[in-house]
Amino acid sequence: MYLERHLDAIQIPANLRINDQIRAYRQRCRAMGCHRPYHHFAFGQSPFSPPPPVVEALIANADKHDYLPTAGLPELREVIAHYYREVFGITCGAEKVVVSPGSKEMISMILAVVQGSLIIPTPSWVSYLPQANILKKEVISLRLQAKDQYKLTPDALLRGIGQAKEKQRILILNHPNNPTGAVYSREELEAVADVCRRNKVVVISDEIYARTSFDADAFVSTMQVYPEGTIVTGGMSKDRSSGGYRFGVGIFPQEPTELVRNILKIAGSTYSCVAEPIQYAALSAYSLDADVETYIRDCTALNAFVGRKTAALFNDLPGVHATTPGGAFYLFVDFNSYREGFADAGIASSTEFCEDLIKVEHVAMLPGDSLLLRDDDFAVRASFVDYDGDAVLDAWHDDPPTSPQEEASFFSKHCGLIIEGVSNLGRYLDQIREGKHPVHA
Ligand SMILES: Cc1ncc(COP(=O)(O)O)c(C=O)c1O
Repeated sequence: MYLERHLDAIQIPANLRINDQIRAYRQRCRAMGCHRPYHHFAFGQSPFSPPPPVVEALIANADKHDYLPTAGLPELREVIAHYYREVFGITCGAEKVVVSPGSKEMISMILAVVQGSLIIPTPSWVSYLPQANILKKEVISLRLQAKDQYKLTPDALLRGIGQAKEKQRILILNHPNNPTGAVYSREELEAVADVCRRNKVVVISDEIYARTSFDADAFVSTMQVYPEGTIVTGGMSKDRSSGGYRFGVGIFPQEPTELVRNILKIAGSTYSCVAEPIQYAALSAYSLDADVETYIRDCTALNAFVGRKTAALFNDLPGVHATTPGGAFYLFVDFNSYREGFADAGIASSTEFCEDLIKVEHVAMLPGDSLLLRDDDFAVRASFVDYDGDAVLDAWHDDPPTSPQEEASFFSKHCGLIIEGVSNLGRYLDQIREGKHPVHA
């Protein structure tokens, strides 16, 4: 059997690989009588259960089994358009809405339909590059800088545009950002939109984390500032904790006819439609139901609290720089000040660093090369979801912390695995500073 050779260069996503690795290590450890826990900073899943009304809608519609219109149930597209108008202030009608099994699938279809070179600001989410490689698209990666809070600037974008070989360029912009947690202000988005408008850049605005923005008012959709050239993707995987339901959304610009028609050609020829019970669950998720809205606000408040506390812990480690997130579930953590120590310990890449850290300290993080960084760039993604979301949310409701002391004790009572994981990392780095190859104490 001859296989398509361009797929050889594509890796299994590192987050999935690390999940499998941890599962295998756990089993091996247990077999050897080791009961030290693993500290999972490599995972990107909401720690909460989905909102009860959404689960109830799924159960109530479990017997529905029809093929549906490829773009989605007409009433669902109406509800989603209303939601985008109300929540994000976007001019949106049902004809601009297409649903899909996850926003990942929607991004992939958009990349298949829109011609041009793809500009990916880095560090980036793990999947944009493989998707572009599967489609054999030219990719220009733009390394963002700490001094810009890892946000895309007009100058950097112009540089990317200059490097592109194809006449049309596509920019993938993700905010709140995975992996940095950055949220763009309206002014920052307008400055980027200005360059896009002048150069006719198509923007795919990946807004899957929109409602995890710690400050709900701080989030501005790119479609508000660049409506003619933006396609928004979103879904309910993150703010409504329903990643496994596989439901995503594309919101298309003013003149969508041919673009949407071509998306529907791919959708209809590959997956036909999103499963009917899931579309009914989505009707509930997008209905602006009071309970679902309260759920989103509460989960986001707790997520913000854990994110800020975790960032502070990382930043307390000598020589370590972590972003302070404004949304999503992640910190981008820079260990480049340990570069010489890593070299002395025989650690040549962020992947080797992460693999060693799991073995020695049972701490898992996502290495920089899977974020599209050079392998010798010692920076990683650390997520802060390693706690029992439902139990901690109950505790947060029953007795919310109201002073810095209460916050500290709430965090140490409910997020012990995170605290211990950062402490283990600190112990590992101490040994690197002392010129040793770390071993478990
Ligand atoms: C930045 C980003 N975009 C898109 C997705 C895809 O989400 P889904 O396909 O579940 O909608 C994810 C999921 O991890 C993500 O982190």
